[in-house]
Amino acid sequence: MTALTLYPMPGNEARAAAIARALGGRVEVQVAACNVHRFPDGENLVQVQAPAPGGQAVLVCTLNAPDSKTVPLLMAASTLRDLGATQVGLVTPYLAYLRQDRRFMPGEAVSARVYARLLSAHFDWLLTVDPHLHRIHDLSEIYALRSRALHAAARMAAWIQAHVDRPLIVGPDGESAQWAADVAARVGAPVVVVSKTRLGDEDVRSTIPDLHLHLGRTPVLIDDIVSSGRTLVAALNHLREQHAPPAICLAVHGLFADNALAAIRAAGAARVVCADTADGIDAPGVEIIPLDEDLAQGVLEMTSRGCSQSAPAAAGASSTIPGERA
Ligand code: R5P
Repeated sequence: MTALTLYPMPGNEARAAAIARALGGRVEVQVAACNVHRFPDGENLVQVQAPAPGGQAVLVCTLNAPDSKTVPLLMAASTLRDLGATQVGLVTPYLAYLRQDRRFMPGEAVSARVYARLLSAHFDWLLTVDPHLHRIHDLSEIYALRSRALHAAARMAAWIQAHVDRPLIVGPDGESAQWAADVAARVGAPVVVVSKTRLGDEDVRSTIPDLHLHLGRTPVLIDDIVSSGRTLVAALNHLREQHAPPAICLAVHGLFADNALAAIRAAGAARVVCADTADGIDAPGVEIIPLDEDLAQGVLEMTSRGCSQSAPAAAGASSTIPGERA
């Protein structure tokens, strides 16, 4: 069996322990310490337990609010390689910086590409969940490492089937359409998509199609990311104007910046549900969909035989081999 050591970066201890439990007897796995000491001047000192001789190291670090996490993460990866890890992988349920996938205004950084180069220089493989791929179609277009994207759609659909009678799936903007359509097809529910224009970080204007064909259905807003929450708030306001029943907000990545959660609740959300991919989603009243089993299966595939691409995909997962939808 592969000797595998999971290293949780600070804040990811429970996630790494849950993945290790889910890996069960399928692989020889241990969870080891990765300590980060922050000096008064803002620099970090990273210290890791040495990996098993000839073993593989897997860092577990979700990357919402990425800037303060990234430098310690890269130092940990580099140190594990120095200490003899044969492979260094990264489990990052939320992968940062993918929304800035082109230069929208002159002189802007194409952050998705810059960040991909950074991570690719330090890791052999990367496992993530529903990366925000829009103008970039596949992680392999920008990441020079083996990558696999799991998808939360099956888990989200199962949640809806267990909790919502007669759902109407609503995508709150064009970029959410791919997630909304996927979940709607799994649930067997109709889907409508809102058109949105973003005028600023917290200024979102949108229009919603007429809902009269869907009377009596409970709206379930599906998005991949909730950041400022303004996309959901705009959609919730339109739903209220059309006298729809209180909507459920379901997202893969609940980043909930600043007062996002309060704003979503104030706009009338009946329930807020998200997958367990980001730090800080344990706010009271946020319902969590666990993904430990999917992540464990993904880790198994990425670490077995040194190459994931010939391994069968986990339930609800797909690889990001060039040409496949990520
Ligand atoms: C955008 O393309 C995404 O699908 C989300 O709709 C967006 O990131 C949500 O951002 P916010 O919560 O700040 O409106």
